[in-house]
Amino acid sequence: MSSRTPNSVYLTKPNTTSAVQNAPSKVTLHLGHLPSKKDIKGPWPRTPTRVDPNNPPWPAYRGYHEYSFAHATMGVRLPTILGKAIDDATRTLNGQSAEEKIVDLVQCIERMDVLMQDLSGNQKLRPIVDDGEADVALWNKEIAKYFQGKDFMNAPWLFAEAYKYRRLREAFTVSKYWGDYDVFYRQKCDTFSRSSDAVFELSMRFAVPFIQSDKSPETKLDTERLMFLELTQVCLWGNSTDLSLLINMTEDQIKSLQSTGGDHLAATEKNILGNHLNQLWDTVKELRDKTGGRIDFVLDNAGFELYCDCVYADFLIQSGLAKQIRFHGKRYPWFVSDVTKKDWEWLFNSMVYGHLFPKATEQERESLRRLGLRWKQYAHEGKWVYEQHPFWCTGYTFWELHTEAPDLFLHLSRSDLVIFKGDLNHRKLTYDCAAPASTPFDIAIGPMASAAGAPKVCSLRTIKSDVVVGLESDEIAERLDKEEPGWKISGKYAVVLLSEGRPGEKVRFA
Ligand code: F6P
Ligand code: MG
Repeated sequence: MSSRTPNSVYLTKPNTTSAVQNAPSKVTLHLGHLPSKKDIKGPWPRTPTRVDPNNPPWPAYRGYHEYSFAHATMGVRLPTILGKAIDDATRTLNGQSAEEKIVDLVQCIERMDVLMQDLSGNQKLRPIVDDGEADVALWNKEIAKYFQGKDFMNAPWLFAEAYKYRRLREAFTVSKYWGDYDVFYRQKCDTFSRSSDAVFELSMRFAVPFIQSDKSPETKLDTERLMFLELTQVCLWGNSTDLSLLINMTEDQIKSLQSTGGDHLAATEKNILGNHLNQLWDTVKELRDKTGGRIDFVLDNAGFELYCDCVYADFLIQSGLAKQIRFHGKRYPWFVSDVTKKDWEWLFNSMVYGHLFPKATEQERESLRRLGLRWKQYAHEGKWVYEQHPFWCTGYTFWELHTEAPDLFLHLSRSDLVIFKGDLNHRKLTYDCAAPASTPFDIAIGPMASAAGAPKVCSLRTIKSDVVVGLESDEIAERLDKEEPGWKISGKYAVVLLSEGRPGEKVRFA
């Protein structure tokens, strides 16, 4: 805390000779004759016409900000992740027998090595090689327009990080045999098989479709509301690094979650710092009252998180709150654990046919099998649809979705509710910049809320990086900054934020 008085300024004592040894250790200048201090408004947020990928509405996080999470990620986390990816490809290489495939994979590994040197040596961001992917033009347009001459550390963190994953992709797509290779696949499968307690906790409850025919309409609605709130939290905390919500619960805690949600729900809800759960319930309830509409999930991670998303989506279908769910995944491996089509199929097929849980009981295995079969049936009937637009694997934030992917914006505008899962999606919604924590969610997401036809948007995100918006006051964040350093990257806190958008209005493009 500074002890500086409003009209004075301390100057530190310069390093001097013995001639001034008796001088005071600090010099205080009195500035009483100078004009009084003015309340100067910062240049933030930038006006929309001055916003672009290199200049977000509030200051961007950049890798060169030492002591920041951006710096730690660019300097340490990403090289570590890349190192693991190289190890994985090497492991695969060692199991090959055909010479052509071996030579081809060796070249992929060499390209990964070059990426490692570029990243560690903080090289400039070069254009993406035309490898036939649908997003090449989007990438190279953005690099040419906003990031010429920029390097891994001085480009905004979000873009530089996404660029690294695109370069990793390129290392494989230019090969002859390894275009579909996923260096993170083994890890993703593991997150599911390692979560057996929580997996069966849910499958044993939901394998049998829930029926509540003998109840009064009021009781039915109330039960549904409680189930909705609990399952929204299951879906939310599925994004946390570990699912302590379910895994570490005692039998009693599980029972309380099951019966009314009461205490345990209230306890975990305290960690939801921006909380629109009740508005979300009103939204889906209204949807059913009208037609029972379409809900979109912009997915985040494969394995256990996807499983939680599907349990939630299953409930939405069974309760009639939604008639159709459209899931949006990635076209290729992205930010380590994001869902690809292969991960989507893997989950359902291993639930039905797999032998992932050797210690499970017969009942548990059967519950998982039934759940998997039902989900496959939903997909078969078109109640669940999997999509993968190229825009999701670009460095653009969702402020640019309207201009850079107009077809996708139009498509989403027809949804009754778009749920974005996870940290990266949240960073992209909010332009990943230093907006004050009290910034309302609909302001923070810009055109995704304000453009004509913008759908209702919900972000279910456990907080794992710097940007935090949608809190009632800045003080909550300031207090946590002081009391709990690291609270923004622990995954212990979360937000459930809803924007009403401008649904039903005609979508327009400039
Ligand atoms: O590295 C950046 C980051 O967004 C982290 O904040 C987070 O740990 C990770 O990537 C991805 O999180 P999520 O899978 O929730 O998007
Ligand atoms: Mg992810």
